Amino acid sequence: MSFEQLHRETAAKLDDAVDKICSQLVVEKEQLKTMTEGFIEAMENGLNHPNSSEVNSSTTPSPNSAGLSMLPSFVTGLPNGTERGILLACELGTMHFRICSVELLGDHTFQLRHVKSHLPQEVIEEDTASSDKLFSFMARRTYAFIKRAHPEVLDPHAGVSMKMGFTFTYPVEQTSLNEGILIRWTKNVQIKDTVGRDVVQLFQDQLDSQGLERIRIVALTNDTVGTFLSLCYSSGSSMSSLATGEVVEPVIGCIIGTGTNGCYMESTENIGKLQPELRERLIREGKTKMCVNTEWGSFDNELKYIPTTKYDTLIDQKFSSNPGFHLFEKRISALYLGEILRNILLDLYQQGLILTQYRTERSLPHRLKTPFELGCQVLAHIEIDDSTNLRETELTLLQSLRLPTTPQERYAIQKIVRAISRRSAYLAAVPIAAILMKTGALTKRYHGEVEVGCDGSIAEYYPGYRSMLRHALALSPIGTEGERKVHLRIAKDGSGVGSALCALVA
Ligand code: GLC
Repeated sequence: MSFEQLHRETAAKLDDAVDKICSQLVVEKEQLKTMTEGFIEAMENGLNHPNSSEVNSSTTPSPNSAGLSMLPSFVTGLPNGTERGILLACELGTMHFRICSVELLGDHTFQLRHVKSHLPQEVIEEDTASSDKLFSFMARRTYAFIKRAHPEVLDPHAGVSMKMGFTFTYPVEQTSLNEGILIRWTKNVQIKDTVGRDVVQLFQDQLDSQGLERIRIVALTNDTVGTFLSLCYSSGSSMSSLATGEVVEPVIGCIIGTGTNGCYMESTENIGKLQPELRERLIREGKTKMCVNTEWGSFDNELKYIPTTKYDTLIDQKFSSNPGFHLFEKRISALYLGEILRNILLDLYQQGLILTQYRTERSLPHRLKTPFELGCQVLAHIEIDDSTNLRETELTLLQSLRLPTTPQERYAIQKIVRAISRRSAYLAAVPIAAILMKTGALTKRYHGEVEVGCDGSIAEYYPGYRSMLRHALALSPIGTEGERKVHLRIAKDGSGVGSALCALVA
């Protein structure tokens, strides 16, 4: 066989293999329907099952078959935009710690000063990480910020104290607004001695030992809850405007970034997992609704509904730090999209269909061989490349992975990237459709429209993502009519402002 023939044959095989992979990534309308129904059932199960088994099993995890975590947040009221005050807020994200001073101006707007620090390797790396190291790092960063932004708090004679809201972007079981036991780490973070402990207490102890006892952590919020509260603050929790003729109600707060998750207001009486006396007391006090953190990243850990390729299984079992958990998140969020692409490329390479200039797997570029080194921003660049021969993609792959490619390989990669992101957006539409249906939000009011507040790198920056998500919403059981009533709003800095709001009312 001549070289030309061989080349043509390999090219045809590559096309076939890529088409096969992409077809496994397609989410059909029928699947959207079954997943949405399955999601509603999982929400109902989760509302009525205690989480305690998850806390106990966190060292030897076994997937929760009861449904979603559906964690009560103890947030029972929503801001309307008139709130005022100066508060502290901080957020522990996957790779960063952010401390903010938030001034709520009472007119739906706010001013925010903040400092964001990357978490140093020794604080998060599995071998060296410990709760003490993490929370003392956070307390030291807080001290440095306070010294500049609010020095009066450090003066023992001034008698100034400040309330702080703490946004924690991992699942915790809350028993009150300022108490939360870590159920498990997600998003590849692994600090063993934090699981099962109260993260507010851990942080407050470290603040106290830095001499910051006049800062009191009064509220703990998940990032989705913060995003939701900040959406309510900026648009008004139930806005009805004769001037614009719109009736818009904020219904969901969600994150589609490194991880993915969402929250919404549930009737207190439907939250069966709350102790009956507590539930009754809340209802008596007029707290008839409570924000629930669904932890939707863990939807369908039993794999009854969500599509699964061999790459998803490999990533979950071999490369992720929480095998068997957060399987939905592992098909949607930024941490995993690049990893899916990397595993597909390695597989095509092993079949001799791509990157054939590398004779052995060992000679492949380091970043292609190393788990989680292919970032989602690489996919974002490739997604929208329409340059001749995909020159932009060529540069992106060279710069980010040191990977030279042929035009044919690049077209194949782009096709795969678009299939991965589309599947992500289609799956992300499922919980949104399900919550809108479960709450009846779309039919509550005459011509009522709803707002979904989103934060996170994918929701905000991934090209075309929100329009793919809308497309999937239209195909979902809420249909085109429902989809038209949904406003997706980016709630920038959402969680910081949200936890400040939470601290204000605490
Ligand atoms: C993960 C966490 C969840 C968080 C989400 C977004 O799914 O478990 O608590 O809200 O990431 O950051």
